[in-house]
Amino acid sequence: MREILEKLNQGIKEIRDLENLKRIKAEYLGKRGYITKLLKNISTLPAEEKKNYGEMINSLKKEAEKIFSQKNEGIRKEIENLSLEREKLDISLPGRRYAKGSLHPLNIVLREIEGIFEGLNFSIEEGPEIEYELYNFDMLNMPKEHPARDMHDTFYIDEDILLRTHTSPVQIRVLREKVPPLMFISPGKVYRRDADVSHSPMFHQVEGMIVDRKVSFSHLKGIMTVFLREFFGEETRLRFRPSYFPFTEPSAEVDIQCIICRGDGCRLCSYTGFLEILGCGVVHPNVFKAAGYDPKIWKGLAFGMGVERMAMLKYGINDIRLLFENDYRFLKIFA
Ligand code: PHE
Repeated sequence: MREILEKLNQGIKEIRDLENLKRIKAEYLGKRGYITKLLKNISTLPAEEKKNYGEMINSLKKEAEKIFSQKNEGIRKEIENLSLEREKLDISLPGRRYAKGSLHPLNIVLREIEGIFEGLNFSIEEGPEIEYELYNFDMLNMPKEHPARDMHDTFYIDEDILLRTHTSPVQIRVLREKVPPLMFISPGKVYRRDADVSHSPMFHQVEGMIVDRKVSFSHLKGIMTVFLREFFGEETRLRFRPSYFPFTEPSAEVDIQCIICRGDGCRLCSYTGFLEILGCGVVHPNVFKAAGYDPKIWKGLAFGMGVERMAMLKYGINDIRLLFENDYRFLKIFA
């Protein structure tokens, strides 16, 4: 009897699944199973042995059933543990973090420019990007055949409507819509047919205008100085150079000391020690006349700057295209 149980134990030792266990159980305890057969053999025995034999086989059967049910339980536990192990969650693993959004460098610079001028009591005005040729050129003292139109490689929409080439037409719009005295800046997109490391067909400008009875070039110089020192740092040296714009007279260009060589001369500043940063001047009488103002009464100052250029010089960006590609590796520097 013990031999049978030992053999049984041996036989199921390596079994790891319920299917095979069931099969072996049937071999012992099934209808034609080994132990079942032993029990049937009882009929062939003489009467006096039947009782003993019966008890013996029955306890063997019970013993075998116990072994099977224990093994069955064991396999089920094992399977359960295995699947628990496989599906285990590591709750100590840190979650995936989302990258935090941040302002685009152009918006950082735009906000800074706006902030400085708001601090000087300028208001903010906006004009359309699709503009009349009349406002973009003619009324700014640039009639049809004016050679200064050449500097602006213009995208025309039809004969007299275009994508504005500068923010100066906002001067005309505000002059026509508002009552002086005026003091405003006008940020926005402008368009020119030009594309290389320092030119983009779409870029941003900030226009500025002051209109009052008594304003002079010295006010302009003062405001430009305050603004540029605030933006580039108190130590920044400036240079005002005579220049030409059809809509201002006199006109000037303002340079800042080169941010790379600090004035010694390098490739960025073409060995001049200075970088051109904005255009400005006293509003031309023809602009006032075009907008219906008496230039004997009203005086004006105007300036305009490129936002990309300001950003590139402030952050040392050497290719304007970086500002429009939205490469995350570039943008995250400004986060
Ligand atoms: N509109 C000029 C430009 O695009 C800049 C400017 C504005 C110059 C106002 C003088 C006064 O280059």
